Amino acid sequence: MEFSKDFVWGAASSSYQTEGDREGRGDSIWDEFCERPGAIRNGETGEFACDGLRRYREDVHHLKQLGLTAYRFSISWPRIFPEGRGVPNQEGLAYYDRLIELLLKEGIVPHVTLYHWDLPLALEREGGWRNRDTALAFADFAGFMAQHFSDRVQHYCTLNEPQCFIGLGYGTGEHAPGATLKGSELFTCAANALLAHGLAVQAIREASTKSVQVGAASTGKLCYPLHNTVENQAAAEAASFQIDENEWWFSHTWFLDAILLGSLPPAMQALTDCIPSEDWETICQPLDFLGINVYNGIQVDENGDYVERITGYPRTSLKWPVTPQVMRYGLRWLYQRYHMPMYITENGQASNDRIYLDGKVHDLDRIDFLHRYLLELRDCCSEGVPIKGYFHWSLTDNFEWNNGYDERMGLIFVHYPTQRRIRKDSAEWYAGIVQSNGRLL
Ligand code: BG6
Repeated sequence: MEFSKDFVWGAASSSYQTEGDREGRGDSIWDEFCERPGAIRNGETGEFACDGLRRYREDVHHLKQLGLTAYRFSISWPRIFPEGRGVPNQEGLAYYDRLIELLLKEGIVPHVTLYHWDLPLALEREGGWRNRDTALAFADFAGFMAQHFSDRVQHYCTLNEPQCFIGLGYGTGEHAPGATLKGSELFTCAANALLAHGLAVQAIREASTKSVQVGAASTGKLCYPLHNTVENQAAAEAASFQIDENEWWFSHTWFLDAILLGSLPPAMQALTDCIPSEDWETICQPLDFLGINVYNGIQVDENGDYVERITGYPRTSLKWPVTPQVMRYGLRWLYQRYHMPMYITENGQASNDRIYLDGKVHDLDRIDFLHRYLLELRDCCSEGVPIKGYFHWSLTDNFEWNNGYDERMGLIFVHYPTQRRIRKDSAEWYAGIVQSNGRLL
């Protein structure tokens, strides 16, 4: 069995995690955060990352060789507007022009994400996501980019995972800018992110001369059933959207209910209270697709209670559990709630990959992970859930935020001291799956 004829196979990356070249742009909140003692494992930073800015041709060459037809990457806001707004940096624009032109020449469709967490530091100094003006500045940036790319880019994600940049960035402090806000201060950040999304959708549509597909990339808790009974499935579906009070931010619900349904459940009243009623119309804009970043899920029983994981359960090097069933069930629940076509905008696993004596990178565990998750994804599609495409996270190993460079998630290994790229076994395996449109799974 195959995926649909027009199924999109791609890989993903983000600007701060790969580009390097700090001199060529304004600082982002991550530059400052990385300088904080203890913030990042081994004290590493994204200053050089994968040197993507200079090596993008090589990376596009790998995409092409693997037979991928789409590339999801993000635009570094401070590379375009070093101060967050004002005069655009022509060299920054020229870089993305070169990248996009090369992709198009190779027949690879660019999927542009406008915010993958690298907020200009200058805007953080004005309050960052605490400040409503950040939403307005983001919309200006989004509209500017859409106008600039209007003859070349047709797919946009506004925000990547507000769950993480709000929850981890302003709540737990594990991510930049490392704030630990509580109560209404944190909800205000979330409200500003929702507004930023809505304003950006409007700005992108207004600025584009050709038809565009606009969405956002969401992540969060998803549950799957212990038993395949109607009752247990219903319990898993309900649990997926239930808000965990202490971790409300790690739910699809607050973000997707707001932007797609135009309201929030009673458990999110505190967030509703932070949203001026006149903002709702802006926040809830018609979208063309939903991006879902999916890594793992939680098993629940008929009562919706979490099932304890077995001793020694399978997990990745980040200790994230391997739960392929989340693909089949979680995506179904999302479709039943939001009725939107979806792209898997991220999926993959972290490993401590290394170069073997034969000079290759044998990452059997990643192949097994992908095989299991893609089988479940295929089942999900055959059950009628409209999945338009799959982007592996990530194309190359990169700067994994507070985990630094220890964790490798790429199809392509990066030897950081030399920046040499080596295609892992999983890349070759994935290329075979792509070529057969999933028939070989
Ligand atoms: C996703 C992010 O949450 O997870 C990616 O969108 C990130 O940018 C990926 O790289 C892996 O997470 P981590 O914590 O290892 O960086």
